[in-house]
Amino acid sequence: MKDPNLKDKIKETVEDIWGSVFRHGYKDTPRNRILQIISNVWLHLHPARVREHGTKLRFTWCMGGITFFVFLVEVVTGILLMFYYTPDVNKAFADTMDLMYTVPFGRLMRNVHRWGAHAMVITVSIHMFRVFLTGSYKPPRRFNWVIGVFLLLLTFLLSFTGYLLPWDQLGYWAITVGMNMGRATPLFGHEGPFSQFLGMTANNDIRFSLVGGTTIAAPALLRAYVWHCIAIPVIATALMIVHFWRIRKDGGISGRL
Ligand code: HEM
Repeated sequence: MKDPNLKDKIKETVEDIWGSVFRHGYKDTPRNRILQIISNVWLHLHPARVREHGTKLRFTWCMGGITFFVFLVEVVTGILLMFYYTPDVNKAFADTMDLMYTVPFGRLMRNVHRWGAHAMVITVSIHMFRVFLTGSYKPPRRFNWVIGVFLLLLTFLLSFTGYLLPWDQLGYWAITVGMNMGRATPLFGHEGPFSQFLGMTANNDIRFSLVGGTTIAAPALLRAYVWHCIAIPVIATALMIVHFWRIRKDGGISGRL
């Protein structure tokens, strides 16, 4: 027999479950919306209130947001690629070819990761250009601009270190050129100006520590792999947390032009 109160009972149960998770009812009032945001571990990362112009696409071009989104795509596809790749000079290229020709969806995974890397370099550059055009680097946002400069650098370093990993001709010679620049670095590269003050030689300069030797060989690949898959992403994530936190603390997206 059909229970006439069934609808009410279902509603009561749903409200009960909702209340146990979200603590505040789901009434759609401005106050309740704010309470829902600030009492939720994930949602409280967002500001509870934003000024209207901050939501306008024509002001931010959403380029910072898109850069962050592309970074997340890179993390997910990067982890998937790690299941198939070995940072060993005898295996790296073969693993890359396997990805292209034998692993199911391997070519898609690799291409999304590679194109994503290009996209991130482009979007972060446009983001920086927008911040410059809108004068958003001025006080109180000077510190966040500096954090941004480090994020830009880390984005380039991610691209650069990833480029070596297939251990193909492109990557090998790119790293060779990059590391030759390294040895010409002022103070820290043994052929750079003022390097004699720090006693730099081919066996202890910045190039040596980056490639783990005096030639581009097995240690260089392993070091690029560790920097690319662990160190740089972790540092970039930490700086992004500070970057986003500072946007809120500096008063949200900068004012209307
Ligand atoms: C991985 C790199 C980066 C990510 C993920 C990122 C993310 C973001 C996001 C999501 C915003 C909010 C507004 C928007 O979307 O435009 C923002 C704002 C900002 N970013 Fe970045 N950003 C990055 C790099 C940079 C760089 C390279 C600079 C400058 C050198 C920079 C400086 C700033 C400043 C000053 C703001 C505040 C802008 C305002 O209030 O109008 N960021 N960033």
